[in-house]
Amino acid sequence: LSSIRVDVGGVEPGTQITVKWLGKPVFIRRRTEAELAAANDVDVDSLPDPIARNANIEGTAPATDANRGLLPEGAEPGTDSEWLVMMGVCTHLGCVPLGDGAGEFGGWFCPCHGSHYDTAGRIRKGPAPTNLPVPVAAFEGDSTIILG
Ligand code: FES
Repeated sequence: LSSIRVDVGGVEPGTQITVKWLGKPVFIRRRTEAELAAANDVDVDSLPDPIARNANIEGTAPATDANRGLLPEGAEPGTDSEWLVMMGVCTHLGCVPLGDGAGEFGGWFCPCHGSHYDTAGRIRKGPAPTNLPVPVAAFEGDSTIILG
């Protein structure tokens, strides 16, 4: 797996960047308090896909927000993080979803067939079967994310 380093030092809360990795878009979003609150204000068992889909943790872990976010270096495991890193590829048929609060759940919206993802990138409505996957990723220092 080829790794890349991404400088996220300029990413302000409430904004996101898209980088290309292994030929695919990866969304890196620094979320606001309101986005985190919205992500936590949901019964995980009621989600269409209740699995975290996070390559960095155990495969059956539930899709809580804490299990989706990327923790800064040294942060306590299981705590909530403003950082969300995920593949920018709709799990239905592979279009690139629109971000920055798009869709009915304030996260991402795939215009191809109408899949709505929430502020944790979890599928909430539409034909996509699973949450947007979180790739292998880690912080290195305060402002660099290593993908892969
Ligand atoms: Fe995204 Fe079909 S490819 S909804």
